[in-house]
Amino acid sequence: MKRVLSGIQPSGQLHLGNYAGAIRQFIDMQDAHEMFIFVASYHALTSGRDAELLRGNTRQVVIDYIAFGLDPAKTNIYLQQDVPQVTELCWLLTCVCPKHMMDKATSYKDKVAKGLPASIGLYIYPILQAADILAVDPDFVPVGEDQRQHVEITRDLAEAFNRAYGPVFKVPELRVRPDAGVLPGLDGQKMSKSYGNTIDPFLPEKKLRKLINSIVTDSTSVEQPKHPESCTVFQIFRAVAGKDDPRTVDLAHRYRAGGMGYGEAKTALFELLLDHFGPARQRREQLMADPGYVDKVLADGATAAQVRISDVTARARAACGL
Ligand code: ADP
Ligand code: TRP
Repeated sequence: MKRVLSGIQPSGQLHLGNYAGAIRQFIDMQDAHEMFIFVASYHALTSGRDAELLRGNTRQVVIDYIAFGLDPAKTNIYLQQDVPQVTELCWLLTCVCPKHMMDKATSYKDKVAKGLPASIGLYIYPILQAADILAVDPDFVPVGEDQRQHVEITRDLAEAFNRAYGPVFKVPELRVRPDAGVLPGLDGQKMSKSYGNTIDPFLPEKKLRKLINSIVTDSTSVEQPKHPESCTVFQIFRAVAGKDDPRTVDLAHRYRAGGMGYGEAKTALFELLLDHFGPARQRREQLMADPGYVDKVLADGATAAQVRISDVTARARAACGL
């Protein structure tokens, strides 16, 4: 059985982009793989400094993982802070990481340009991510397209360490959903917590409806034929329903035929979201009311992760003479 590891930062409420790019893949993989899915709480310290907010967001990501469909009976769900050995592995990798490897990483520059503090933590963020990954010897790392460079850096660092000290780390493979791409947000830019353009599928119905109505569309009149591919409403619909789903095919047809306004397409998207996420919305209510269950999931996940991580850390320490 192949092993899988991935994680998401608790830097805000999860959104449809996280679902389409990352979480959906985790769910698809959990029946056939040994799964380690965590909440990257240490990473979130590179972007925010509000302790209460971090605690709340961390908990919420766990609840939403399970609500979206991660099954704790199949997937080990844990918090990064419950396996602090990853910070030791991060140091060991930092010492074999050529500085130019970090200079080339694009996410640091992008995040500083967006106003995040230019800390050393942010600068070496990819090394901590490599430590998270290499710590459990995974075969696959499923992530969204924008994490591709981080997984490539992970592979390079594993090879650099192995060259210096012998074969300690397994070099994992990236898994990006072939048709996922980057989901646009309300304004047509990449949907991202940091752009304030996200859609949270757990919003109360009225708010969700209002948000969907605020998706920016062009000024083509109702009668005119429209291009589904260049419309954010359609792109989100297709990402959730699937590109071959009859509802997607039908909506694309109605765009091309003319006579359908964007308002109608937005109604179709709203109804799709309520239908697709109905069970997840219900599960989330139940989970919010059962903190004991969530604690138990995290305790079991932490134990499973600690076992693996202790093994890898011991190997790495011995190899470099500690
Ligand atoms: P954000 O940009 O909102 O802060 P994260 O960086 O926390 O999102 O991303 C968590 C996971 O979700 C990553 O695997 C990332 O690739 C994926 N992801 C985030 N936004 C999108 C998007 N708009 N389209 C596809 N995947 C996304
Ligand atoms: N950088 C990832 C993101 O922004 C989060 C992350 C941290 C991660 N460590 C990881 C993802 C390890 C996959 C594997 O979404």
